[in-house]
Amino acid sequence: MAEERLVSSQSDTEEDAIERSLRPHHLSEYIGQTAVKAQLSVYIQAAQKREEALDHVLLYGPPGLGKTTLALVIANELGVNSRTTSGPAIEKPGDLVALLNELQPGDVLFIDEIHRLPKIVEEMLYSAMEDFYIDIVVGQGPTAHPVHFPLPPFTLIGATTRAGMLSAPLRDRFGITQHMAYYQPSELQEIVLRSADIFNMALPADSALEIARRSRGTPRIANRLLKRIRDFADVAESPVSVSLVDHALTQLQVDDHGLDAIDRKLLMMMIRDYAGGPVGLSTIAANIGEETATIEEMYEPYLLQLGFLKRTPRGRMVTPAGFAHLEMPYPIQ
Ligand code: ADE
Repeated sequence: MAEERLVSSQSDTEEDAIERSLRPHHLSEYIGQTAVKAQLSVYIQAAQKREEALDHVLLYGPPGLGKTTLALVIANELGVNSRTTSGPAIEKPGDLVALLNELQPGDVLFIDEIHRLPKIVEEMLYSAMEDFYIDIVVGQGPTAHPVHFPLPPFTLIGATTRAGMLSAPLRDRFGITQHMAYYQPSELQEIVLRSADIFNMALPADSALEIARRSRGTPRIANRLLKRIRDFADVAESPVSVSLVDHALTQLQVDDHGLDAIDRKLLMMMIRDYAGGPVGLSTIAANIGEETATIEEMYEPYLLQLGFLKRTPRGRMVTPAGFAHLEMPYPIQ
């Protein structure tokens, strides 16, 4: 990434550790995603009643919404072990065989960023998912021969930022597909209150709501902002009042809608240089120095959700609300 971004929803290692410490273990502790939880709860109970592995689950939605957390909650509710990996980490068929080889009946294999699996690995998954076997070639040259390798019934949980990035054969092999939506401010408020409790931090409800409102619907961002706000409060030896939250977030260049400097730069560039658009995705990317995929997966979804940006067949356009947010006059058409 070109700049370190406080409101980016990508996680790094330090943050992974924080996320782990904040992670709920049961569906009942998992806040928000009500419809997803209600359905999964039925499927989990049904699989348990039948003593079968749960059908394969595909979770899709913007980064930072708790897909990994939910996958681990599912395994925990099923009472099975889980293995966690990611698409890019499985480089060759042998890596997948090693993972599959360790599974016990009913176990969960969680593959994050499943759209980034190498094709050859993805193709091995088809029979693994559908009929619980893989065919591997052992040996080389004239001695090479296929070996049929049966697997225990298991549950693959895949996560991706967009279901459309998955090939149809892979997508079709998931019996359960769930979309994760951005969280409501009241849900994020509950999440940061729970996190503050774990951090032993006194957080008034109105301050929690202010953090929630400015976290772009994303728990990972809410928890990250909470940690930074705690730093400000500790240094100032001040209670976490709404005005302290506002001061800290202003310092962090997170505005009242949760947009950061890069979001505003993107919108402002479209307004100043292209009269608000339409502008093609690759033009936007070149102008702000980011990858097109980063823009599509990380920046754009929330701007679309806020109604500051819209997609048209000719490119992206800043909406009147987007102009208003940047206090720019909307051009007369
Ligand atoms: N941490 C991250 N996402 C969460 C959620 N949905 N519920 C509770 N804690 C979380």
